[in-house]
Parts: sequence; C-alpha cells; structure tokens
Amino acid sequence: MKTILVTGGLGYIGSHTVVELIQSNYKVIIIDDLSNTNISVLDSIHKITGMLPTFYPYDLKNEALVSKVFNQHCFDGVIHFAAYKSVGKSQKEPLHYYKNNLYGLINLLQEMERNTLTNFIFSSSCTVYGQADKMPIDENTPLKKPESTYGKTKQMGEEIIEDFVKAYTKKATILRYFNPIGSHPSGLIGELPNGAPDNLIPYVAQVASGIRDYLSIFGKNYPTPDGTAIRDYIYVKDLAEAHVSSLNNLLNNTQKQGLDIYNLGTGKGHSVLEIVKTFEKVNLLKIPYKIEGKRPGDITIAYANANKAKNELNWQTKTTIEEALISVWNWQKTLKEKEKL
Ligand code: WQD
Repeated sequence: MKTILVTGGLGYIGSHTVVELIQSNYKVIIIDDLSNTNISVLDSIHKITGMLPTFYPYDLKNEALVSKVFNQHCFDGVIHFAAYKSVGKSQKEPLHYYKNNLYGLINLLQEMERNTLTNFIFSSSCTVYGQADKMPIDENTPLKKPESTYGKTKQMGEEIIEDFVKAYTKKATILRYFNPIGSHPSGLIGELPNGAPDNLIPYVAQVASGIRDYLSIFGKNYPTPDGTAIRDYIYVKDLAEAHVSSLNNLLNNTQKQGLDIYNLGTGKGHSVLEIVKTFEKVNLLKIPYKIEGKRPGDITIAYANANKAKNELNWQTKTTIEEALISVWNWQKTLKEKEKL
C-alpha cells in the first residue's frame, strides 16, 4: 500500500481528497495546523472511510516538526494543500501570507529533497491567469500578475516548484482549480468558513439559513449577458477525484523528471445571478440580494478548457451545477443542526 503525505488534509478540499485517496487504497498521513479547519473533520473522515489517518497538528514552517514526520514515514508522494486562501485577508496581511504560503512550501520541498522523494502535487488556482484574454482558459494561456497577494503566492509557488523539479530531477503536477463548491455526498464533510465567507457559494448558503440577511452581488454592469461576473464552479468531490487521477499518473509515469500543469474545471461558466437562481430553484427557497459595486480585484469571466486533464489524466467532472448546489444546502442544514447540539 503506497503512503501519501497530505498537507492541509483536514481542510475543505484536502479532506475530500483524503477520503478519495483512502477509498483508492492509499495510506494517508496528514499534517494540518488546524488554522482554518476543525479537528472534528478527522472523525468525519474516519466515519466515511472506516480508516483513521495518522494526523500531525503541525505548522509546515516548523522545520524540526516537519523533519520528524519525514523521519517516521516513507512517502511515495506528497499532495500539498496547506496554505492561507483568503483573497481579502491576503491584501491586509501580505507578509503573513508570503511567509506561510511560500516558506511552508519551501520547507516541505527541502524535506522532500533531504529524503530523495519525488511525486509532488500542488494545489494552485486559476487566479494565476488574472483576466485571461480568451475563453475557455487552457494551460498555455499566458499568466498575468494576480491582483491579490493570495494569487501571487500561488504564482510564485508554481515558479518555486518549476525550479525544484529541474534542479533536483523531480516529478510534480500543478493543479489549477477554478471555483470549488459543494460538500461530500455523505453530508459529513464540507466547507467550514471562518466568520463571514469571502466566497459566493458559502455566503449564499448562510443567507439561505438566515445567518446573513441578504447577499451582496458585487457588480451588475460587467460585459456579460446578465451583467454579473462569470465563473467555473467545480464540485469538490470531482475535484478530489482529480487529485487521485493525478497521483496515479505520477506514480505510474516511470519518467524520472518533469512538471505537468492541469486546469481543473467543468468547462462551463455561470454568472452570479444564474447561481442564485439555480440555488433557489433546486433548493426551493429565496435568496434576497442587493446589487452593490464591483469588488476590487475581481475579474469579469473565467472558465476552463479542461481537455488536457480529460485526455492525460482520464478525468472529467461528472456533477451538474444543480447537484452541487443541492449538496451546498444539505451541508448548511447539517451545520445548523450541529450548532443546536
Ligand atoms: C465569485 C464571484 C464575486 C461573494 C476566489 C479565488 C480562487 C478561489 C475561490 C480559493 C465574483 C461574486 C462573491 C459575494 C458576490 N480561492 N461574489 N458576492 O473571487 O472567483 O475566486 O475564490 O480556493 O483562487 O481567487 O470566488 O466566490 O469569491 O467570487 O457577488 O458575497 O461571486 O464578485 O464575481 P473568486 P468568489
């Protein structure tokens, strides 16, 4: 049984990926500093899979602790999720973001090199494209300087990995997520926003459950059919499955060295208003909203050309936006029940 280290494995996308890895017969070791999640997620992973992964509540910036984990296990691969991801907070605390997201990555890669390990998968984001000139966005689309420090840490992280692969003859895969949404079909894991959500979908869910009075729709005069911005919303379990496909591809690929980059999206764009109306329709409820000004740094439109992942990883999304938005409301109702306990 191959052993995989998953950093940030108790986070939103990390926990869904850990479940898929275990159910694909991998042994999983988790490092997570719990800065943006809850230890109860470990128990939920246990309930879903019947397996309790070994867990270390460590900060990747702590070299001694990370070394200790690498001394105790022999990893066949590493999937790196652990990073701060709030676009808004990154603008207020850039140095905090650079230190955490970049030094954490560098320390992890140094440990891999110290242990002559290869097979590295990096959680990146379509934010590295900025506002791309043409749609759909493929992996050859020129990158633009991201507006946010969060986005810059993703772009710089990709460059660090490119040098790591070349200098130390490693194999790595960069996965550029579009907009992850939804929760696991079991209803036991999902997004756990810290305070008021930055992102559209968890905010809509909180309006639906009465935690927020209304949704602010940031901008209604974009050059789009209904004037609101368009994104590619990808169901989190489909996204998690792409990580297993990427890992299988790395482990089966006997080539000694190289870097691959894949866009992970549905290939379809939906506007903010379309999302609101679809959420209302499939969940039989109303979402009050107010039109407000554009959010600084937001782009008009982004949706993926995901053919490269389909052709090379034998992976594509299977879940409709309707199904994903039903899972969003199911999870929000679960959170509400938990609060009553
Ligand atoms: C989507 C659309 C908003 C909230 C960012 C990161 C990306 C990834 C996902 C981490 C935009 C509008 C939002 C609200 C709104 N991050 N909106 N009212 O900005 O596309 O992507 O989050 O995994 O890397 O860049 O996602 O959900 O914040 O916004 O109108 O209350 O919804 O203006 O048009 P975004 P988002």
